Amino acid sequence: MNLYSHLQCSNCDRIFDKMLINNFCPDCIQPLLAKYNLHKGVSKSMIKEQRYNMWRYQHLLPVESENHFVNLGEGWTPMLTLSKTSGAFGIKNVLLKEEGLNPTGSFKARGIGMAVSKAKELGIQSFCIPTAGNAGSALAAYVAAMDGEAHIYMPEATPKVFQLDCEVMGAHVTKVDGSIRDAGIAMNRDNVDGQWWDITTLKEPFRLEGKKTMGYEIAEQLNWTLPDVIIYPTGGGTGLIGIWKAFQEMMEMGWVEHIPTRMVAVQTEGCNPVVQSFKADKDHCDLYENPEETMANGLRVPKAFGDRLIMRTLKESNGYALDVTEDEMMSSIYEFGKMEGMFLSPEGAAVYTGFKKLVANEYIKSTDTVVLINTGSPYKYVENMQ
Ligand SMILES: Cc1ncc(COP(=O)(O)O)c(C=O)c1O
Ligand SMILES: [Zn+2]
Repeated sequence: MNLYSHLQCSNCDRIFDKMLINNFCPDCIQPLLAKYNLHKGVSKSMIKEQRYNMWRYQHLLPVESENHFVNLGEGWTPMLTLSKTSGAFGIKNVLLKEEGLNPTGSFKARGIGMAVSKAKELGIQSFCIPTAGNAGSALAAYVAAMDGEAHIYMPEATPKVFQLDCEVMGAHVTKVDGSIRDAGIAMNRDNVDGQWWDITTLKEPFRLEGKKTMGYEIAEQLNWTLPDVIIYPTGGGTGLIGIWKAFQEMMEMGWVEHIPTRMVAVQTEGCNPVVQSFKADKDHCDLYENPEETMANGLRVPKAFGDRLIMRTLKESNGYALDVTEDEMMSSIYEFGKMEGMFLSPEGAAVYTGFKKLVANEYIKSTDTVVLINTGSPYKYVENMQ
């Protein structure tokens, strides 16, 4: 049983047929959301019988036939209890979702795996993407697995291993001066007549559905309860929006009675459009001019296409946005490594730094259950840390 029903504009609610190849709403130039017949009765016990990877939640995902799953083992990542961190900061329960163990070393495997699988179902084989690194690696992998073609555009400042990763898996890589936004502009110039399917973050609806599985997993791993706070390193925002979407779907299906979770976005001080909009209580983000380079490449996103959904998620969840410095991330990596025996990615270090600040300003309370998301493996960032 698959409950996927249609696509709907996140802004004007216009409905789109699920068989059309729609990237975003042409009227609003805003993201589309996948919608499901949630009342049709998928139960938690049905999920229990499923395999331990992201396709566990297949009833609630947009790929309708199993034949189209392109599966490299993504999802069902560990939820680790950080008892030392809990003790050190006096917080009841602190957990870490270890996304660095996904194929190609990041949570991007979920979103890209979903988009490529859906593309297979829709008969699409050529893809393009601007990337800070991890999404490019994931695209190269999933496209190789489905015998397609990937055109990947990344900033010059991206660690070298990402280009190697992509080329090993047969993708075409173009390096671009500037940020991921400039990479996107170069990509659009080359994507003559839309010959490649553009899977820029939230410019198509399916990567979000892959990221959504983090929300289902967090709930299931907490025995179908939801945490009080989730801290997420925010670039384009798919994970933040996706986890929140999962929780809302679960609520609609009656799997949880209420959603206590406050969603927190962490960014870097040198590129913090979400933090600025949060402080100004805006419903969108302005373009962040001249974003500074950062060791957390995935957070250097000067303008997210899903900015309104990011701000909506923060507002609806009574969430928060804050930024961190390069020095703070670096010292957090060593501090956390020594304490917990885990090497965080820079983005994960941004999350841990954010956690400490939120304990200090009492946004996080001693009775809270907090989930930190380590979105990627640190090993691809070694040259940034030297
Ligand atoms: C390791 C890592 N963390 C976080 C992000 C930001 O993710 P999103 O664009 O979904 O906000 C990225 C994006 O490249 C990333 O690679
Ligand atoms: Zn619209």
